[in-house]
Amino acid sequence: MQDLISEYLEVVRLFRRYLEEKRGMEKREKKQDPQVLLENFYQSMKNCKLCNLYKTRTNIVFGEGNPRAPLMLVGEAPGRDEDLRGKPFVGAAGQLLRESLKKEGISNDKIYIANVIKCRPPGNRDPKPEEISACLPYLREQIKIINPKIICTLGKFSTQVLLNTIQGITRLRGKVYQLNDTTIIIPTFHPAALIYRAPWKATFQEDLKLVKRNLDNL
Ligand code: URA
Repeated sequence: MQDLISEYLEVVRLFRRYLEEKRGMEKREKKQDPQVLLENFYQSMKNCKLCNLYKTRTNIVFGEGNPRAPLMLVGEAPGRDEDLRGKPFVGAAGQLLRESLKKEGISNDKIYIANVIKCRPPGNRDPKPEEISACLPYLREQIKIINPKIICTLGKFSTQVLLNTIQGITRLRGKVYQLNDTTIIIPTFHPAALIYRAPWKATFQEDLKLVKRNLDNL
């Protein structure tokens, strides 16, 4: 128990130190380099033990893409392939997502991909509320650093936490919501759901068209 408390305090200490350093840097320079900020942030949290998922993870899946991306895609949690490779959306759902983005002409240099949960829930079970609350500050910090103009939430979990609602994804998807002064959210289905529900594929593609239209209008 004592060990766990010490480990918890160590993670909190590192996160705090990262925030203090960032604040200091912000004072010194007007505009921060998001790539440097993301790397520093990753270094501060890569040994996270704030919830039990660290016990079963192979790798933390922090996120990947352009640190200045106008579009951020936010999924749920890493699956088996992502856990093994330490990268988001590299399995079957990821392949579907990447093909669908390509169809709309949304290129890789426009995107950053991350998840709400950074470590794989065993057996791909749903994330528990305490895992979401432990991990959510990491996603919020990534959003703050990248400052994307558009966030496309993939599936129920990322949509509900970022919109702070308990409404279902079928009601929420396909519309534009304001997150703050600079960023909108466009929710759609999780690409893994399309593997089992083929009719949703067309709707998913329609939602990506809406994302692309908003990207083109920036
Ligand atoms: N599903 C997710 O939500 N995220 C991934 O990275 C992979 C599958």
